[in-house]
Amino acid sequence: LRLVATERVVPGTRLGRSAYDHTGRLILAAGVTLNRRYLELLLRQGYTALYVADSIEEVELPETIKLDTRREVVRYVNDFARIYAPRDARTAKGGFHSQLNPGMATSVKKAVDLLVNEILSSREVVIGLVDIKSLHNHSFRHSVQVALMSIVVGKIMGLSKNELRELGTGTLLHDMGKLKIPDFIWNKKEKLTDDEIQQIMRHPQEGYVILRNANVGLLAAHVAFQHHERYNGTGYPSGLAGEEITRYARICAVCDVFDAITSDRPYKPAAHPCEALSFIQKNAKELFDPVVVEAFLALVAPYPVATNVLLSTGEVAVVKRLNIHALARPVVMVTKDRERRFLTAFTEIDLSQVDSVSIINHVNWYDDLGHQTVRPYELSSCKRQSSA
Ligand SMILES: [Fe+2]
Ligand SMILES: [Fe+2]
Repeated sequence: LRLVATERVVPGTRLGRSAYDHTGRLILAAGVTLNRRYLELLLRQGYTALYVADSIEEVELPETIKLDTRREVVRYVNDFARIYAPRDARTAKGGFHSQLNPGMATSVKKAVDLLVNEILSSREVVIGLVDIKSLHNHSFRHSVQVALMSIVVGKIMGLSKNELRELGTGTLLHDMGKLKIPDFIWNKKEKLTDDEIQQIMRHPQEGYVILRNANVGLLAAHVAFQHHERYNGTGYPSGLAGEEITRYARICAVCDVFDAITSDRPYKPAAHPCEALSFIQKNAKELFDPVVVEAFLALVAPYPVATNVLLSTGEVAVVKRLNIHALARPVVMVTKDRERRFLTAFTEIDLSQVDSVSIINHVNWYDDLGHQTVRPYELSSCKRQSSA
């Protein structure tokens, strides 16, 4: 298996991981042979990268939670949005109205329970996959991913089950206020006007109002309100700093930024997790709570499974399996020699067992793996993690 930019997938390649549309419906199942029509369909659905099956068969995809759970949670968030932030009221400033359905907030609680229970029941959870989101449904996939990571961070930080539930509710709904801002602003590729930026910066307050109306708890509503606050007081809307920001919102901020940087956005393709991690690490104490950052770094693999890396030997390898306690030293398969020629036989190396070889850089799935040189982005920070 390997993660490849959709535009580079050659027809005839087999799909390595099933693709779903924004409602969670299956578009194409793993194993299907991709033709031009399928590839266009996937691109239309917003899939800018795909897991494809190749000769490296035994790559294990570490799904953080069951795909069924993820789909069910997305469905609950969709339902919540339909009731509490209906489309027809999106553009009306403060004109929020709906027949409040008391059952709906309960179903969000059920979604959160699904997430919390599954995370608590698995012994060790890591984020070791690039979560490919369809652009068109960015915000709900995003919400689920942010909630997922936040709950794991909370677990590492020792939060109680009840606290994890509150944290999960707040993070799952943190961007609900976005539904009150016109779509064209979020999808805009060009530079935003001052007025549009002002509108975007209103989404935390809008979210707060929605969550208060939905009665999902004050602490959850505060996550929506404060998730763009920054540790040094440079965030918005209130410019709160340090412990003035609730702990849940400090957790949400880190996970939110990571997911945003590693997702395709209308104006920018997704960055590699390694780049996002080094940004977060560099801004611990400045933008982010250092305690949260520490927990986060224990959770997210800098070199996700099925992505390419450059080894200290000059060879290129694919990450095959993660070592949970040495995330920066996974098991890899060497696939290309120093001249970027495919090897006839691949060698497996468990980097946690071999000191003489290490990863010196990641390779972004958008980059050409042919003869071009690899862009050495933030090499030092990424390397720092290899020694951790
Ligand atoms: Fe936000
Ligand atoms: Fe967000």
